[in-house]
Amino acid sequence: MGHKAKLVDESGQFATSVESWPSIVITKEEIEREVERLADEPRPANGRRATSMVHPMAQAPGLGLAPGIDAHIEVLKPGESVRVSRSNGSAVGTCIRGQGAARIGTSCFGIEKHDVWNVPSMHPVFYENNGSDLLVRLTFSNRPMLEKLMVFYGEEADDAKISEAWFETVAQDAPAGPRAKDSAPIVPIEGGGFLMPYEHLVDPDTVENRALHWPWSVVEPRLNAVRGIGEGYTGRRLYILYNPATERRNGTTHSFFASIAAYPGDVVDRPHRHSSAAINYWFAGSGRSTVNGEKLFWKAGDLMLSAPGWSIHNHASGPDGFYSLTIQDHPLMIATESLIWQETMKDPIKNLGTQIGFQTNISELV
Ligand SMILES: [Fe+2]
Repeated sequence: MGHKAKLVDESGQFATSVESWPSIVITKEEIEREVERLADEPRPANGRRATSMVHPMAQAPGLGLAPGIDAHIEVLKPGESVRVSRSNGSAVGTCIRGQGAARIGTSCFGIEKHDVWNVPSMHPVFYENNGSDLLVRLTFSNRPMLEKLMVFYGEEADDAKISEAWFETVAQDAPAGPRAKDSAPIVPIEGGGFLMPYEHLVDPDTVENRALHWPWSVVEPRLNAVRGIGEGYTGRRLYILYNPATERRNGTTHSFFASIAAYPGDVVDRPHRHSSAAINYWFAGSGRSTVNGEKLFWKAGDLMLSAPGWSIHNHASGPDGFYSLTIQDHPLMIATESLIWQETMKDPIKNLGTQIGFQTNISELV
């Protein structure tokens, strides 16, 4: 029996913006309790002790802390490792306790507290805890978006041969010799468009993307430069952990940037909004945020849906300032030409990536 499409009359209607989820804080204490609970359970067959922190308004498919971003706590006890896996999602990872080792595609590195790294799509991933404490990671991925589109693909390697084959696949160079598209010319047509043969459709140009590692020991001293920008700065005191594979989309993965902010005490940012959604992990200090008119207080170790897409928000540092890791689906929004932004509520709405963006007063302060 065939399915029949519904015909929905939208005459005279016009879609405007939709409501956003309320902001939410998951406290350090809640996260620590969950870490202990995961560590106390028997080891699962694939080694993955993990909990997804799901927003109460999220609906399957695609459960996440923001509509397009999931947030997982992942725990390994000393000596434990996970079964190798891969998926067509991409992720940012950070370590919040302990130490371990990661092997992601061709990249191998040690991980320590506050380190950050990216996990490219379809790269095999392996983690082990080689320390004496629990290894606790937070992982943020675009899986909710892929599940909503009903195209998430994931698999685990159930034997060592398969996992080695996956790692080798990532390491292979492009095949030498001509490609079919070299024999299938693109035809320009009047007005700027082109006619492009099928050979290009199935063999697009590639951009190398590998797992990059931002060790905290390297990043922390560099943060003094943004923390120390003079008073009255109209921008935000942060560095994006930039992966050049994301090119002009300024990302860490093709979906998210991860940025680390370092604020001195008693700085209040101006209210603004953007269609990209943001999750903050506050890892030192304290502060408060106002999101859609609601005040939320937070401290080191709390995780927060800090900017539901298109919500007016600002953050303010407490007396000792703060450090935070922000995960924001900004590159995804640029790629889809959907990144609308208002830097202050008096500014016009700009479509970033398609027009000149906002300017800060940095030139007066350096
Ligand atoms: Fe923001």
